Amino acid sequence: MKLHPMWQEYPDLAKQLTTTLELMESVVKLKNKKVEAAVLDMIQAGGKLLRPAYQLLFSQFGPDQDEKKATSLAASIEMLHTATLIHDDIVDESALRRGLPTIRSAFGNDTAVYAGDYLFICCFKLLSDYSTSLRSLQLNSRSMEKILDGELGQMDDRYKLDQTVAEYVENISGKTAELFALSCSVGAFESGNSERFAKKAGTIGLNIGIAFQIMDDLLDYQADAATLGKPVLEDVRQGVYSLPLIYALNQEKEQLRPYLEKKKQMTDEDTLQVQKLVQQLGGVAYAQQLAADYTEEALKDIRKLPDNFFGTKETLERLTSQILTRKS
Ligand code: IPE
Ligand code: IPE
Ligand code: MG
Ligand code: MG
Repeated sequence: MKLHPMWQEYPDLAKQLTTTLELMESVVKLKNKKVEAAVLDMIQAGGKLLRPAYQLLFSQFGPDQDEKKATSLAASIEMLHTATLIHDDIVDESALRRGLPTIRSAFGNDTAVYAGDYLFICCFKLLSDYSTSLRSLQLNSRSMEKILDGELGQMDDRYKLDQTVAEYVENISGKTAELFALSCSVGAFESGNSERFAKKAGTIGLNIGIAFQIMDDLLDYQADAATLGKPVLEDVRQGVYSLPLIYALNQEKEQLRPYLEKKKQMTDEDTLQVQKLVQQLGGVAYAQQLAADYTEEALKDIRKLPDNFFGTKETLERLTSQILTRKS
């Protein structure tokens, strides 16, 4: 099982994440071999495993240290994340994910819908088997509702030239940050911490998740598809405008309008022009600053966490700072 190279500098966590991946593989069992293969391919494609990593780290703060439980719950959250990616690629009509053809492009939309559905099932099976209280199931289903809300908010804002930064932040808080919040709070709660501590962990996760999505959106304006393993700027054609573009539009609409008006008919040349204009209008610099602000907010709270035997606080600080400098 190949782990993402970023974990080489975190050997203890790398071990637990390898176990998490193995667990994920071992629960996937379907009579339908096509859906089974699609799900396994996706699991083995080398995702970064950030959400389980945060969950495992926050589970080190509690009095109840149970390795099997922690890694099973970590597997549960990663399966939920993977399900949302598979369905996201259908909605976004994406061809590439983790450097490989998406399930929808390799196997078709029907297989992709079922593969995503099956992963939601696996998520709840693991969660209900290993969580100690109904509270985690409650937290999980509420998070899923917020993720959907964020995705629907984003859909409703498509092709909107006057979207505000606040609306964008609200949408990404749901579609992305909520899952980071859930990972941190469930990790904290299920290892025997108080509700209050779990809530604090959730706030840290939320800020990390917001910074993470802003960074991901920034990479669209800075990197290329080969580096990212997924297509660049294809969301613009579909009317999904992210922070750098939203900021640029708020500065000056008229230069961008002729390109954006073409909607799905935008050519690669048009997207390149948009990319250039967004950079010139300061959209990239603005997004970088906002990502830094959310990361700093998270780091401020991380530094207030209690010290423990594992040195978790320091690991959280290091990992979270790394997010702001990632290139892929
Ligand atoms: C992709 O998340 C979706 C976003 C929230 C931007 P990741 O970048 O964590 O995806 P994988 O799991 O590493 O592929
Ligand atoms: C990521 O959506 C969030 C979810 C999957 C719910 P995006 O569409 O912004 O992410 P990528 O760029 O496809 O990974
Ligand atoms: Mg999407
Ligand atoms: Mg997408």
